[in-house]
Amino acid sequence: MFPQRRMRRLRKTPQLRAMVRETRLDAAQLIYPTFIVPGSGVRKEIRSMPGQYQLSIDSLVDLMGEAMDVGVMSTILFGIPASKDSVGSEAYADDGIIQQAVKALKKSLPSLNVITDVCMCEYTDHGHCGVIDNGDVANDETLELLAREAVSHAQAGADVIAPSDMMDGRVGAIRDALDDAGFPDIPILSYAAKYASSYYGPFRDAAESPPQFGDRKGYQMDPANGDEAIREVELDVAEGADMVMVKPGTPYLDILYRVKTTFGLPTGVYHVSGEYAMLKAAAANDWIDYDKVLMETMVSFRRAGADMILTYGAIDAARLLKAGWAE
Ligand code: PBG
Ligand code: ZN
Repeated sequence: MFPQRRMRRLRKTPQLRAMVRETRLDAAQLIYPTFIVPGSGVRKEIRSMPGQYQLSIDSLVDLMGEAMDVGVMSTILFGIPASKDSVGSEAYADDGIIQQAVKALKKSLPSLNVITDVCMCEYTDHGHCGVIDNGDVANDETLELLAREAVSHAQAGADVIAPSDMMDGRVGAIRDALDDAGFPDIPILSYAAKYASSYYGPFRDAAESPPQFGDRKGYQMDPANGDEAIREVELDVAEGADMVMVKPGTPYLDILYRVKTTFGLPTGVYHVSGEYAMLKAAAANDWIDYDKVLMETMVSFRRAGADMILTYGAIDAARLLKAGWAE
């Protein structure tokens, strides 16, 4: 008790603070999301995500080369195809935008960890994450297409498959398909607890994939539910997920903490587009310091249990770490 116990003793110098620090961040834990468009020489800034770009494959290779120079080792790819249709054909086409991007990345940057987002919404003309039957997303019919998409990403050379659609049974369907196609060693990072969140707003500018009718509440989770996240993760683990993810990040730190402590699996968190956009907008007004708030946010994810962080700030954070960031 005070005055014997003084918590401030260990906060006196930067060296003492660093010595007793419980949580650290490493660039290897960061995953940088990228948006790939057809063409060449394209580097088009996304209106609602300053500093983020739609990239053609050549620009993607250049940017990821720079990212690797500062220590980023992983990207997760989102594709914006030249054409969309009701069954998202480009998602599983051999020469689809993602398949081409994966091949180019693995050729130019073989040690880059290439993760592909597996979903239908960027490829369907209606913008939903599966095929439509009777005005609703048909779960079981969608599984077959997701499995085809995953296999085609693996054939292109993807290192990790990350399904984000939230259909029931997709992890099992994808695991079986990968195994049958000769890819038993490709891991699955499941978007296991993905909420129907309004924080995805800017992503829909980036990926040009807003649902053309209705919303995603019939498949993504209700933000009010925590126990349900545990059941979602449990099912994905049973179906063969190697790693799981909670999404969004900052408003769902409680879920992240519960998922990590309950399952102890490699656990990711997605610091989503709206979270990034808010930091950028406040920083542009000189209301917050972007670097400091970004790094504090990263540390909050690590403290809550994240092993991996998907963030549009990955390159910024890696650059800061490389320059010797210490708070
Ligand atoms: C598509 C998908 C979305 C995000 C990742 N994959 C959008 C959505 O579900 O509506 C959001 C990522 C972000 O906001 O940064 N299934
Ligand atoms: Zn989707």
